[in-house]
Amino acid sequence: MNNRITEAELGECYKALDRIRALTEGLGLRYYIETYGCQMNEHDSELLAGMLIQAGYAKAETKADADLILFNTCCVREHAEKRTFGNVGFIKELKQQNPRLLLGVCGCMMQQKEVAKRLYARFPFVDLVFGTHELKNFPSMLEELLMERDRIFRVSESDGEVIEGLPIERTPGFSTFVNIMYGCNNFCTYCIVPYVRGRERSRKPEDIISEVRSVVQSGYCEVTLLGQNVNSYNYGGVTFPQLLRLVHDAVPELPRIRFMTSHPKDLSDELIAAMAELGRVCKHIHLPVQSGSDRILKAMNRRYTSSDYLKLVEKLRSSVRNVEITTDIIVGFPGETEEDFEATCELVRRVGYSNAYTFAYSPREGTIAAAMEDQIPEAVKKERLNKLNAILLETIPRNNEKYIGFTGDILVEGVDHRGEPLLFGKLSNFKMVYVQGDEGLIGKTVRVKVDGFRFNSLFGHIVKEEEE
Ligand code: SAH
Ligand code: SF4
Ligand code: F3S
Repeated sequence: MNNRITEAELGECYKALDRIRALTEGLGLRYYIETYGCQMNEHDSELLAGMLIQAGYAKAETKADADLILFNTCCVREHAEKRTFGNVGFIKELKQQNPRLLLGVCGCMMQQKEVAKRLYARFPFVDLVFGTHELKNFPSMLEELLMERDRIFRVSESDGEVIEGLPIERTPGFSTFVNIMYGCNNFCTYCIVPYVRGRERSRKPEDIISEVRSVVQSGYCEVTLLGQNVNSYNYGGVTFPQLLRLVHDAVPELPRIRFMTSHPKDLSDELIAAMAELGRVCKHIHLPVQSGSDRILKAMNRRYTSSDYLKLVEKLRSSVRNVEITTDIIVGFPGETEEDFEATCELVRRVGYSNAYTFAYSPREGTIAAAMEDQIPEAVKKERLNKLNAILLETIPRNNEKYIGFTGDILVEGVDHRGEPLLFGKLSNFKMVYVQGDEGLIGKTVRVKVDGFRFNSLFGHIVKEEEE
């Protein structure tokens, strides 16, 4: 089935980590990882941190305290790329101050071989560059660096494997992510992800369930099942809605299950039914629309029309009580006319999103759209982005009006100290609610009633039993 890391390879990883531990004993080495981009990179950073801790490293609070700095990079838009080059440049000075400091750059941007080569050549003080398919080689590369201090550049074309069993150091909190699959097969024409993350590979349901169990045992109360397009999850015939049921039923002590991201072309009736039926599956769906124009959707290779999308929204709303929908939108895709853009604005007004992430199209080298004629001038993209954001500023709060007087459960995540200290937490459908209350409630589920709202947040109070 899927190309999975072998027991022997995993054994080699652990042996190399043990050797590093012995080699560096007593030195008090510390690591610092800076992560850009999406949860896929966050996940890889958690694995890198897990391996480093296994090798005897401790976490450094700042870059200046670290003996190893890793930049885990993103390249989904140009902006992300520019930032990385700037930030890597700054490390030169730290290296002069601390001669034993090692610097590594990894992640999606380094999987673009030409960019990786450019970075490696431009910054001779970078010790290690590796692509997204090299995680299992990280222990041996680090060992080699510590022993020989020669620079290492490793970017392979392979699609990578499904890696199971590596140590992981999760970001502390109440909510965490569990990858159910890696890679993407969709090749939306603007997107670099399939090139830097390889083809889709689904994890075994048993491995997913045992990871979910273990995170619940360590105290997390919300798990987001993660993939670039969870709806195309498939392991030996087990589909995503089936997996959702399996996880829901196998881990009854997990209060909240979320999932992300859903590609509209694959959102099935079975998934909508599972969302409606399974009590602990949250009533929120992130359903990126990207554009409201059928012509642009076609050029993007999204494989649905705006009316297909609106039908899905209708189905979700009529089947899943209190469901909320969020989205991603790109403006200024090559060839986008004022009329196409207007169609996007119209769709946004019709759907009534609870939130939306909007982006100006950014050409990515090697993608089909980057080579298309009719690239839109930056000034026009910016203008459209501003217009769209203004529409969202109007439509998002309008969507909140129905919440006045609404009662529901939030999982308290923390205290917001921007003004009067307020507890904050999300409803199952991802709406954020702020309430007055005791800090001791952090990590607990509390019943709240909504009294008002501001942009995409709701404000309310904790419901006393007699109020119910
Ligand atoms: N797999 C997810 C998300 C991928 S990247 C999905 O299919 O929705 C997250 C978002 O970044 C995308 O939804 C898209 O809106 C945006 N994005 C991707 N490539 C982009 C590009 N070249 N320019 C601008 N935005 C882009
Ligand atoms: Fe990119 Fe499309 Fe895959 Fe999402 S589904 S990661 S936008 S190619
Ligand atoms: Fe994610 Fe950026 Fe890579 S969005 S998959 S980290 S290119």
